[in-house]
Amino acid sequence: MRVRDCHNFHDFRELARRRLPGPIFDYIDGAADDEATLRQNTASFERCDLVPNVLRGVGTVDMSVTVMGQKLATPFYCSPTALQRLFHHQGERAVAAAAAKYGTMFGVSSLGTVSLEELRKAYDTPQVYQFYFHRDRGLNRAMMQRAKQAGVEVMMLTVDSITGGNRERDLRTGFSIPFKLTLGGMLQFAIRPMWGLNYVSHESFKLPQLDEHVDMSGGAMSIGRYFTEMLDPSMNWNDVAEMVRIWNGQFCLKGIMSVADAKRAVEIGCTGIILSNHGGRQLDGSRAAFDQLAEIVDAVGDRIDVMMDGGIQRGTHVLKALSLGAKAVGVGRFYLYPLAAAGQAGVERALGLLRTEIERGMKLMGCSSVSQLSRDNLRFR
Ligand code: LAC
Repeated sequence: MRVRDCHNFHDFRELARRRLPGPIFDYIDGAADDEATLRQNTASFERCDLVPNVLRGVGTVDMSVTVMGQKLATPFYCSPTALQRLFHHQGERAVAAAAAKYGTMFGVSSLGTVSLEELRKAYDTPQVYQFYFHRDRGLNRAMMQRAKQAGVEVMMLTVDSITGGNRERDLRTGFSIPFKLTLGGMLQFAIRPMWGLNYVSHESFKLPQLDEHVDMSGGAMSIGRYFTEMLDPSMNWNDVAEMVRIWNGQFCLKGIMSVADAKRAVEIGCTGIILSNHGGRQLDGSRAAFDQLAEIVDAVGDRIDVMMDGGIQRGTHVLKALSLGAKAVGVGRFYLYPLAAAGQAGVERALGLLRTEIERGMKLMGCSSVSQLSRDNLRFR
């Protein structure tokens, strides 16, 4: 199977599965505990039907949205995800380039493998910096200052990862940074020699957002230990309010799910919230963001930009979220499998397919702009 034979999420997932060593594929593909929330994230869209209107003159369709002060040509953006260089040697560069091609926003993770400065200089499209709250308050301030200096448009604090999720696939394979593979995990790498060749023949793996602060060498620090040892589970609303004040710009919280929390995000001056269960990778059993969206939009939608992520595999999923009131939606695995399958060409094709599906879907819905999508167009089963 080649990139041009990939027509959807499932095709790219299959191509990524064939190309990646098992432990790396499972790190992307897996989720917490029984992976029930992972399954719900996509299933939730299927409990909701679209009710189209016709004969509305949809010769041209405007898919643009404005979110947290950023004008995006498409209503989806690339959520920040970790460790992209492990999936393909182009890593974050491929994703940023594809996002720029489609005029949308991309996220750079604290656990990103290309520096936020390099990406900010190289690609002319809005950039989000995802970060975690560390025990070391000086480190938190230093990270924000670094992002400010680089010209990052939006800060995104992840609030659902105060401790690592129970990813049992990773426990089985021994997936960690640096690798401490189990025997089974090692065999999985041995049967993917092309990945290994590619990995060693390109620049070495780095975590440039963290390498001044965290020693990842000598087997010292796995991702799980980064979460448990470096991050501060005592983080509270006062701490975040201070960060919002210091940043003094577009600031969003990723991983808000309750109405109470959404209201507090407004009170402390956030400009956005992202309903998210971290792709099912943290609290298994957590509700799908799409199921929780209407409640949150009704409570705070007129005071803060509400976004969501999780489970999006189709343009119609995006249309359903927008119809309920999301300002934009994030995708993660949706571009990670294409990245793993084919680098920049894969991500460009995947984002292009999503864009085409949204445009077609809007025409079939009788909507020529995103603002015309409304709850009148939805029915829940
Ligand atoms: C994950 C973290 C790193 O989901 O965001 O793996």
